[in-house]
Amino acid sequence: MNDKEVTKEKVFIRTFGCQMNVRDSEVICGLLKEEGYKIADDTQDADIVLFNTCSVRQHAEERVWSEIGRYKNKKIIGVVGCMASNYKEKIFERAPNVSLVVGPQDIHKIPEIIKVLTEDKVLFERKIWETDGELRPAEIYHTGFYQDKEHAYVVISEGCSNYCSYCVVPYVRSALRNRNYKDILKEIEEALDRGITKITLLGQNVNAYQDTGHKPQATSSPKPAACSLQPQTLNFVKLLEMVNKIMGLKEFSFITSHPKDTSLDLFKVMADSGKLKKYLHLPVQSGSDKILRLMNRGYTKKFYLDLVHNYRKMVKDGVLTTDIIVGFPTENEEDFQETYDLVKKIECDAAYIFKYSPRPHTEAVKFVDDISRAEKERRHRLILELQKEISKKKSVKSK
Ligand code: 5AD
Ligand code: SF4
Repeated sequence: MNDKEVTKEKVFIRTFGCQMNVRDSEVICGLLKEEGYKIADDTQDADIVLFNTCSVRQHAEERVWSEIGRYKNKKIIGVVGCMASNYKEKIFERAPNVSLVVGPQDIHKIPEIIKVLTEDKVLFERKIWETDGELRPAEIYHTGFYQDKEHAYVVISEGCSNYCSYCVVPYVRSALRNRNYKDILKEIEEALDRGITKITLLGQNVNAYQDTGHKPQATSSPKPAACSLQPQTLNFVKLLEMVNKIMGLKEFSFITSHPKDTSLDLFKVMADSGKLKKYLHLPVQSGSDKILRLMNRGYTKKFYLDLVHNYRKMVKDGVLTTDIIVGFPTENEEDFQETYDLVKKIECDAAYIFKYSPRPHTEAVKFVDDISRAEKERRHRLILELQKEISKKKSVKSK
């Protein structure tokens, strides 16, 4: 270790939100370590604190704002991730102690930004880095930094193009971009070389994955189609089959799936692939067709119930979890009852229940948020209690 490395700052990344952010924080840590920075054990121990933030629900943002305010004596405080895209320069007004703001597509620039900022604070003070819609450079996923010794998250796609009317993700993380399948397989192989045995494939909508640039290898098959040089699409199910074949991998899974992109082929591969966990997180959001339409989810209650029916039939002992939003604009008692009945019917192993909060940029923010806080709380509590009973019953059954 040379003198320069010894004097480099200690960085701590405080991560909020989903597994995608957990992985992004690892990526940033890996890149910083490559440049000789130390990763601190906690915020107290750090010279630089970065907040990797989530904007999906208002509550998550409020926690970040209140926490940022508590740090006054750090060399650099930075906001990265979704809130960086969501608030941009407004962050500097609301949190004067913040000196860098970096959007999700620019996380690879962080080591260089920190370097310049620590060397010439005045020049670069209070700047925003935000590129829209570009795929991150492939190299950033290959630093080999994983928090866990046995399990690794592997991003397969970034962003989302579904535009569910309540969701801020397409605006803060841009449209869906798929990673090249060869690069994904390479990252998994590298992780296995480091002792990892379990993988979770990550994306906001994993089952919309497509690698359209995939050119088939010419084979010795006499059939002309096998030698075609036309680019072919490699879809999610095909990717799962390829991952399943990787030597040394013991187990893998994926999150999150969208019902409209969920096929029987997916269930077949879940049933047949020895290493793929029989675990499906399939957010339904609502049991009312009226609300699903307003949410722009692209399916009906019947479509979802048929999917669940087929999953249960094809994937024996498959685990199922879901997400529910209560109190979406115009959700009346009848709509809510439909959601309640659906939750009862599908008997998920776990359900994550959220109270609707209006998000900037989204379509739904234009609707009147007409369900009172107390009513959202009531609906939230009722479904929570119902799900608690179901989860308890299921865990007793499985013993
Ligand atoms: N309000 C409440 N919950 C939301 N979610 C996404 N956006 C909102 C919002 N505006 C929930 C959805 C999604 C999960 C990750 O967060 O249920 O599946
Ligand atoms: Fe948001 Fe819908 Fe995309 Fe999920 S699928 S990230 S809820 S827009």
